[in-house]
Amino acid sequence: MNPPPPLPDGEREGVRGAKQGLLISGKEIGTMPYDASLNFIFWCPTKVVFGENTALDVAIEVENLKCKKALIVTDRDLIKNTDIPERVKKALGNLSAGIFSDVEADSGVHIVNQGAKLGKELGVDCLVSVGGGSAIDTAKGMAILLKEGGKLQDYTGVQVLTRPQTPHIVIPTTAGTGSEVTYVAVIKDHEVGRKLFFLDYNISPNIAILDPKMTEGLPSGLTAATGMDAISHAIEAMHSLQREPMTDGVALHAIRLIKEFLPRAVGNGKDMLARGQMLIAANLAGFASAGAGWGIVHALAHIVGAKYKVQHGLANSILLPACLRYNADACGDIYLNILPAMGVNIEKVSTDEAGDVLAQKIADFTKTLGLPQKLREAGVPEEGLKECSDLALSDGAILYNSKFVSDSAEVLKIYQQAW
Ligand SMILES: [Fe+2]
Repeated sequence: MNPPPPLPDGEREGVRGAKQGLLISGKEIGTMPYDASLNFIFWCPTKVVFGENTALDVAIEVENLKCKKALIVTDRDLIKNTDIPERVKKALGNLSAGIFSDVEADSGVHIVNQGAKLGKELGVDCLVSVGGGSAIDTAKGMAILLKEGGKLQDYTGVQVLTRPQTPHIVIPTTAGTGSEVTYVAVIKDHEVGRKLFFLDYNISPNIAILDPKMTEGLPSGLTAATGMDAISHAIEAMHSLQREPMTDGVALHAIRLIKEFLPRAVGNGKDMLARGQMLIAANLAGFASAGAGWGIVHALAHIVGAKYKVQHGLANSILLPACLRYNADACGDIYLNILPAMGVNIEKVSTDEAGDVLAQKIADFTKTLGLPQKLREAGVPEEGLKECSDLALSDGAILYNSKFVSDSAEVLKIYQQAW
């Protein structure tokens, strides 16, 4: 897909003009430092359906896609501990082909193969993933194999597929991943011990059904951790090299919603307003990170997740303050834009101070959510930090960071601060 045509000169000046300032909290601050040569693609083909009990209308959405036989893709915990997959199956009625429930955390190629085999045997023409990131990404992989056949490994990389894949409806049961609206899937190849990345517009889900009732039973610790994954997506999108005005807009609103509603959802899981607003926030943050990319927080979190099984959202949450301090000299204006969304009056905060102030605000926020503050509390041994620092430099997410990172000694200092 080609980038949009460049703007005529006059309009380019208009973009540059935005640098003159924006009035926030009665103070004029620099807005995002967009370049006058800015060009980008904002891709969000997924239809989003929101509301309490909208998951019960899933059959209507299957019919809207002109499909007749849907396979539910969900994870072992969800089928063992909740009746959510069964409720979705009941709602599908005679459009249901059954439930594939072998998805586990850090889903792998072998699980995708099993699911696709079952889907083929049943003759399904649609997938309904119900769960968090693993279930959604597994279904994205299955959607490829059901359409194209062959080996999943043949389709890794950027924009490899040439046509729409098997129709896919997502019903998230966490408010964090944002994968329900992204064209990204991460699936582990356990045989060779590495993660495969699929970045392809053809795997964007067709429909995301955001039903607060589906997240009602999520325990408070997971609610907090997945919510911090969402805010990390939003903040990383804003300090990414690929940030642009549209992703900044949705990211900022995601941060406002998370600041307001994550503590409420953690405090009372049955607060349906908070649950709903968190689903929207995670969705907006997913749009933002799919468009703008990630950064140093996700790079460092991926490594401690893979090596020491630190839950993804928790890893982001712990690493976020130290990473904000690291990026502060390059991202002061951006962090000044984020601070009001976090409820901070920036009247007396300078650009140079913004990183420190935001880092402290995030650390205080995660304390109120009851989350661990340090990597050592999450099972990471101090002697493992050096190896993590070396590995983090080759994680793809670090390429998007607004500050170029090439020195593992600098990364080690960040890990040590967070340890
Ligand atoms: Fe994430």
